[in-house]
Amino acid sequence: MADFTLKVRRFLPESGEGPYWEQFDVDLDPTLSVLDGLLQAKDREDGSLAVRCSCRAAICGSCGMKINGQSGLGCKTQIGEAQEMADKQASATGKGAEGNSIVIEPMGNMPVIKDLVTDMESTHWAKIRRVTPWLLPHGEPPEREYVVEPESMIDVTQSMACIQCGACVSSCLSMEVDPDFIGPAALAKAYRFVGDPRDAETKERLHDLAHDPHGIYDCTHCFSCIDACPKGVAPMDQIMRLRRKAEENGVEDPNNGHNHMEAFTKIIEKKGTLDESLLLQESYAPGVKGKLKPTKGAIKGLLGSIPTGLRALRSGKVRSLGQMIPGVHHKLPGGAQDEVKAIYEHAEEHGEELNLYIKGEEGDEELGAGEETTEERPQ
Ligand code: FES
Repeated sequence: MADFTLKVRRFLPESGEGPYWEQFDVDLDPTLSVLDGLLQAKDREDGSLAVRCSCRAAICGSCGMKINGQSGLGCKTQIGEAQEMADKQASATGKGAEGNSIVIEPMGNMPVIKDLVTDMESTHWAKIRRVTPWLLPHGEPPEREYVVEPESMIDVTQSMACIQCGACVSSCLSMEVDPDFIGPAALAKAYRFVGDPRDAETKERLHDLAHDPHGIYDCTHCFSCIDACPKGVAPMDQIMRLRRKAEENGVEDPNNGHNHMEAFTKIIEKKGTLDESLLLQESYAPGVKGKLKPTKGAIKGLLGSIPTGLRALRSGKVRSLGQMIPGVHHKLPGGAQDEVKAIYEHAEEHGEELNLYIKGEEGDEELGAGEETTEERPQ
């Protein structure tokens, strides 16, 4: 047994007061979970402490919360590990290396109902419904079940592992800026059906998600959802799969997201660093053999982005007006740009895919598609 201090962000709506912090001392084995600690505090100190849970085994997805600032499941986080993290964070900020409280907060990007219980309706469930989370096959249904090759489902197994806990939504930085962003959980769910060979509305689904200004091109690749997901769903990877499928299906988008993506990869391939001003120009008016071919829409888009450029200048992201000229970009030290170019080439040649159930690379005969890892199966 060991002593831990939980610093819990509480909110009691009936009090009429704002949120406040309260500390609870708990005494339990370090291999038990943060949720166990909270339940002990609720049992021994304050029965009004609100926390949502059910299975206590990382299956039901009820106990999403922030632990030391990181979104995850209370029942899947060992309290001893949470303490180590709290100590490490305190040490990094010069507050001392040991004996720090484990900080527990409700999930982010969601209204708080009480203490650690959040309202997931508007930020999670409404968005899940938004992506039509069921199969849309054409034609008469078969007499018995739809039969598909097991291999054809491998691509969607990762998104099927989602337990709808909302940890990815809680950590999503894009959603912090744009609360209307469909979000990582719902888009991962969308890929589950886009990638399903039985679904007949693939193109319509992709068109819908690409045309929505809060859709697949609203993700900024911050990787937070990948870090937060307790089941290895890697929602950002599913969003990238949706973008690739949109491209394969010739789905254009009015948000310029596809052009932006193309411009991004083109610049990294060519320069090994991101020239933001060139990115802006190439996103709206891709140069053809070094010559600009701006359309009316491109000119309008470029002019519309002037306020963003000025904000970048004011905030110090861009240090001088000269840096705003496309193609004028400082060199990275040493051979860093060449190294980035080499990484790009390697990724292009190997087509690596991250999937919880497949290891290895495309074309790797020893670890080809269909070989399963020992990881857990989808729910
Ligand atoms: Fe079910 Fe944590 S209580 S996932």
